[in-house]
Amino acid sequence: MRFLTLALIPIVVYGVLNQLFYTWLPGNYIFNKNELQQICVDAIKNHPNNVTAVMYAVQEKMSEVYGEQYVNKLNFDDWVFNNAGGAMGQMFILHASISEYVIFFGTAVGTEGHTGIHFADDYFTILSGEQHAAFPNQLEKSVYLPGQVNHMAKGEFRQYGMPPGSFALELAQGWIPVMLPFGFLDTLSSTLDFVTLGRTIYFTGKDMLKNLAAGKF
Ligand SMILES: *[C@@H]1O[C@H](CO)[C@@H](O)[C@H](O)[C@H]1NC(C)=O
Repeated sequence: MRFLTLALIPIVVYGVLNQLFYTWLPGNYIFNKNELQQICVDAIKNHPNNVTAVMYAVQEKMSEVYGEQYVNKLNFDDWVFNNAGGAMGQMFILHASISEYVIFFGTAVGTEGHTGIHFADDYFTILSGEQHAAFPNQLEKSVYLPGQVNHMAKGEFRQYGMPPGSFALELAQGWIPVMLPFGFLDTLSSTLDFVTLGRTIYFTGKDMLKNLAAGKF
């Protein structure tokens, strides 16, 4: 009886989180996926062949549209590696709260791995290079080019790859804290890079608390 009750807890928690995902949670979102894509498309057009300049332009425009308190200023000290799903990339956190994150993510060197299965909708707008992706039954890859968005719906999962020099703006909307273990576990099981782990937790936690204190869930 006791065991049964314990086993029910995760099921009930999942049910409640899932219900809220479709009802209450979206009311907390401040970023608009279509607006973000347009911001990226404009920046790419204005700064051809310079992804650094594209990133500065995207950050500035996002700051203007969504408020500078919600969008971290781009710098090149606060980038971190991310090892997840066997893939390795580089990222900069523009925004992290309980229901959303926006990051620059990509790789100078190139990578390939599992997307993970997330409790969030994910919008991956390519800024430079390209992204490849495929479902398990898909024998010819999908290819996403600069300005295009790869939308991975909640619960979807694929293999993906990015050739050297590919970067994107990634927006995730959903239950962000439950996505974090995916982002951390490769460190514990493989890289043992606790410098990166510590910096990632610090930048994410700092931003989440800052936003929460400002009433942004
Ligand atoms: C690309 O843009 C950055 C930021 O605006 C600038 O510092 C850099 O010189 C540019 N690189 C080239 C090759 O134009």
